[in-house]
Amino acid sequence: MSLQYSTTSFAAHKDEAPFEIEELFFSRTDERGVIAAGNEVFRRISGYSWDELVGAPHKVIRHPDMPKGVFYIFWERIKKGLATGAYVKNRAKDGRYYWVYAIVSPISGGYVSVRLKPTSKVFDSAKVAYAEFLKCEEEDGLTPEQSAVAIRAKLRDLGFPSYGAYSSYAIAQEMHARDQALSRSEDGRLQSLKNLLPTLKSLDEQQQSLFASFAKIRGIPSNMRIVASRLEPAGGPISAISQNYRLMSDEVTNHLGGFRVENGSRSLAESVMARVYQGVFMMAASRLQREVKTVASEAMTRGAEKEGFHHEVEVLTKLLDEYTLESGSVLLSVFNDVTALSRSAKDLRQLVTGLDSIRVLCRVEAGRLGTQSASLTPVIDQLDTFHVEIDKTLEHILELADKIKTLVEGAMPRSFNGSLQYHATTERPSHRT
Ligand SMILES: Cc1cc2nc3c(=O)[nH]c(=O)nc-3n(C[C@H](O)[C@H](O)[C@H](O)COP(=O)(O)O)c2cc1C
Repeated sequence: MSLQYSTTSFAAHKDEAPFEIEELFFSRTDERGVIAAGNEVFRRISGYSWDELVGAPHKVIRHPDMPKGVFYIFWERIKKGLATGAYVKNRAKDGRYYWVYAIVSPISGGYVSVRLKPTSKVFDSAKVAYAEFLKCEEEDGLTPEQSAVAIRAKLRDLGFPSYGAYSSYAIAQEMHARDQALSRSEDGRLQSLKNLLPTLKSLDEQQQSLFASFAKIRGIPSNMRIVASRLEPAGGPISAISQNYRLMSDEVTNHLGGFRVENGSRSLAESVMARVYQGVFMMAASRLQREVKTVASEAMTRGAEKEGFHHEVEVLTKLLDEYTLESGSVLLSVFNDVTALSRSAKDLRQLVTGLDSIRVLCRVEAGRLGTQSASLTPVIDQLDTFHVEIDKTLEHILELADKIKTLVEGAMPRSFNGSLQYHATTERPSHRT
């Protein structure tokens, strides 16, 4: 292999190397990113011959407009075994450029990259962002690692908790735009999954408001006791009531643990959301793998690919099976967690009903004390507000949990049909995106 690549050997080329939206291409590399194989579409668009490509590092098609920080994140993730999606601007042999959305998956002994032509609005904003990142790298002399930190910070500002979440969003939007451009009907399962994200966000907000409500009432029993001590001896019953209220509200607060995971550091909705992002990525990627595999098999049958291509079809088939299985397991774990959450919410509702009866007792006792108890009124009013708030929030949480379960059912791969029964002991699958 005698290929010479250089970032300066081509005059800056403003033309785009065209390819059709239905065209998908892929390449396979070893663990260092040295090209081992690919399909004919990849070769044609790059403008190189197979002799030039096989054995060359993939950066042979690197475009100088690409920010280094993107490749830093890309390699950091794939080396950890995480499938990763990214917009990439490439340069063909004649200097023309072409953009792709690439999904790179770790496989035994290397990686496979499957690419499509990006057309969504996310792509438009990515191009603008890449130009900004590149400018920062050049003007501020950022290292690739520093640039990666800046990219991740920008994504967080845009509301993406992680790079993986952003790539899931981007691939889902690209698939949607591609389906529309090719007049294909919308992918119902992917749509269900996408709809899960705003629903989970609402669930997270409701959970946060539940935690906040409980934090607010923490001081109420003490306030009640203080008031009761001023009413002595008439305040004795109030004192007892406040003690009961404290004991029961402690029990209820302990129960809030059911809404948290990872030693209480994360809300369950947040954790589920991370897995839904993963599921979206896996599902979109597996659709793409299926299509590229079909195209590859057809091309092989037509004799349009070079000898030994059947190995590439096998690699793609194996990858597709893995992605389908993984997206199914991720969704199953989401379904189980949401079922558990819904049970926790029901238990909590029952406990709060008990707590509520103590509040009623308190009101009755205050009524009995008449004007003496005027100082109790603001405390009891606070309890009234708290109970109204909690009832509303729990009701909302239960509704959202039901909606999420329905959407998960709609998104489940067909091969997983019938598996949606609650398994409290089901292990979570490893997080691969
Ligand atoms: C499977 C796979 C596919 C890749 N595809 C591309 C690609 O299409 N374009 C590209 O510039 N880099 C691609 N890379 C990344 C390159 O290996 C390289 O990191 C990148 O071009 C940046 O080069 P640099 O680190 O020397 O700046 C790919 C890597 C792997 C493992």
